[in-house]
Amino acid sequence: MKNTIQNNLNMWNERHTWTRDGDEWDGQASFHKQSYDDWKRSVIDVFLLPHLSDQATAVEIAPGHGRWAETLAERCEKLYLVDLSPSCIDYCRNRFAGHQQITYVVNDGTSLPGVPDACVDFVWSFDSFVHMDPTVIDAYLAEIYRVLRPGGRVILHHAGRSHATLGLGFLRGWGKIGRKLYKMISLRIWNDDDGWRSEVSKEVVQDLADKNQLAVESQVQSWGANGEFGVLRYGDYITTLRKRD
Ligand SMILES: C[S@@+](CC[C@H](N)C(=O)[O-])C[C@H]1O[C@@H](n2cnc3c(N)ncnc32)[C@H](O)[C@@H]1O
Repeated sequence: MKNTIQNNLNMWNERHTWTRDGDEWDGQASFHKQSYDDWKRSVIDVFLLPHLSDQATAVEIAPGHGRWAETLAERCEKLYLVDLSPSCIDYCRNRFAGHQQITYVVNDGTSLPGVPDACVDFVWSFDSFVHMDPTVIDAYLAEIYRVLRPGGRVILHHAGRSHATLGLGFLRGWGKIGRKLYKMISLRIWNDDDGWRSEVSKEVVQDLADKNQLAVESQVQSWGANGEFGVLRYGDYITTLRKRD
């Protein structure tokens, strides 16, 4: 199934059953042989907390049922939660009803309507850009450039297929064997699913960032004192971007 906006809408607004308050994606933790609680804590400590403060304005793109928004909502002055799924935004609106500083936005899958220009310190998205095609990521990066303050930071978790094999994505249309072959050569993994990762490599994200005047500060697959935490289950990356001055 292609990673189109419509397929994402169908998947997350209709088909997905959303268990555990949306706190259900524990496969990365087990891949890295960590408890989910420890792994999630490390994501929050390393990637979220350094960018939050009670003066910060933040945007989360694609919050789902609020797995990370829970932390963002406690630690910033203003928060925009933007998702293409009306049911996800409804869920967050109920879940965070006590937080007056949150603005909820149902969007078209590419833009940040209602977020003013040059007012955002931090943009965050996890487990969602992994399902977005390059054209969608390109559109979001243009919007992110528009809303960020100079020096503002962006952290995006995205797919990390092998760049050299991206042109072979047509194999996904060749039935089970084609899908398996492409998964093996582009993700270098041998398990049975590819996590519905899009046709994106870390180089694609670098190029799109450059096009949209965002500087790449880092691209990591693992972190922690001994690299014990990470997003390697499907070969993903977490990219940190900064708005160029
Ligand atoms: C796997 S869920 C992850 C939710 C949340 N980020 C988390 O980590 O728990 C994917 C989310 O991405 C949203 N999404 C997918 N494509 C999107 C797009 N183009 N624009 C906005 N939201 C999108 C879905 O509606 C869903 O909420």
